[in-house]
Amino acid sequence: MEPGGDLEWYVSAMSNRTLAIIKPDAVARGLTGKILAHLEGEGFHVAAIRMLRLRESEAGEFYSVHRSRPFFPSLIAFMISGPCVPMVLLRDAAVATLRRSIGATDPREADAGTVRRLFAESKERNAIHASDSDENAVREERFFFAEADVLRGQ
Ligand code: CMP
Repeated sequence: MEPGGDLEWYVSAMSNRTLAIIKPDAVARGLTGKILAHLEGEGFHVAAIRMLRLRESEAGEFYSVHRSRPFFPSLIAFMISGPCVPMVLLRDAAVATLRRSIGATDPREADAGTVRRLFAESKERNAIHASDSDENAVREERFFFAEADVLRGQ
């Protein structure tokens, strides 16, 4: 079914979902609306969204897979430096399509027209996070949203 924005489409898209976070660098630079518009232009529909400032323990848990990496302390300091905007996004092939839409981790290596190429400052301050698998999308969605917070059919 083509994205139409109606409830029927939202319901049909429930198995095609991913988690994105507009990161503190982009929020602080007033890019939240521009990035949302960009993602909607790529066919993503928002099923849940909120703004929050992560606590250090929460950021550490979210990025626990990177705990042993040299950039981990700096990544955590950056992620708690200001508000971020996590959201659940719906689209067919949501995980793979969003990864393509955001581009490579380092904006200098990201393809033209990707979110990071357009809006990111550096490999760390890279504007947006996206889940890298369906399994992590479920885990990351539950990290930020209760089931009742996410739009679903009745
Ligand atoms: P993200 O997709 O959120 O997943 C892990 C984050 O760690 C990544 O985006 C970057 O913000 C950051 N990161 C990954 N590699 C590096 C690196 N080599 N140096 C600094 N930050 C990095």
